[in-house]
Amino acid sequence: MIPQPETWLKKVSEIARGHGALLIADEVMTGFGRVGQASSLSPTSKKTRDRLEACPTLFASHHESVQPDFLCLAKGLTGGYLPMAATLTTQKVFDAFLGEYHEFKTFFHGHSYTGNQLGAAASLASLEILQSEKSIRARQKLETVLRGELKSLWQLPNVGDIRQAGLIAGIELVKDWRTREAFAPRERAGIRVCEAMARRGVLTRPVGM
Ligand SMILES: Cc1ncc(COP(=O)(O)O)c(C=O)c1O
Repeated sequence: MIPQPETWLKKVSEIARGHGALLIADEVMTGFGRVGQASSLSPTSKKTRDRLEACPTLFASHHESVQPDFLCLAKGLTGGYLPMAATLTTQKVFDAFLGEYHEFKTFFHGHSYTGNQLGAAASLASLEILQSEKSIRARQKLETVLRGELKSLWQLPNVGDIRQAGLIAGIELVKDWRTREAFAPRERAGIRVCEAMARRGVLTRPVGM
């Protein structure tokens, strides 16, 4: 996982829009406060930090003041208690699919369980919690604890890099930190670390190897 440097998304959005393209932000993983409020993106300018402190946001794209045309949401929407996902869009896009039946503008795709009432109720409850002062403070505290704990991993010879954005952290596993030589896939380095962590009660998911 490689967090993009500050202003990257802003520039991408300007280029895309400059060519008349619509911008889709997949915030399935990053949404709902997962990338933190302010000091979590590195490097983050003081200006950005001050702005985010004044007006906390739940979405990574808002860290760069980017308002996407589509926003894909899931995971944090219900905190994992019930399956629920949502695709948000602008009024302009919504209106493009609005019309009389014979105009055939309707977007006919759907899912078997779209709009599940229990899922929707869990999402609303989750949103209320996520936006509460108490929850924002708890996330900030957790982020600081994670940042501090991650520092201790730098001393391990197989840690090539540690990247953190809020409550998301990626630890690059390498054969030797000096050369940053990668492990061969057959060595299953990531899976072995995950298994060792599971034995200690920490559930993680290997991405790639
Ligand atoms: C960034 C990102 N986008 C999309 C998905 C897929 O989401 P869903 O399973 O809700 O379709 C995931 C799932 O891990 C994800 O991490």
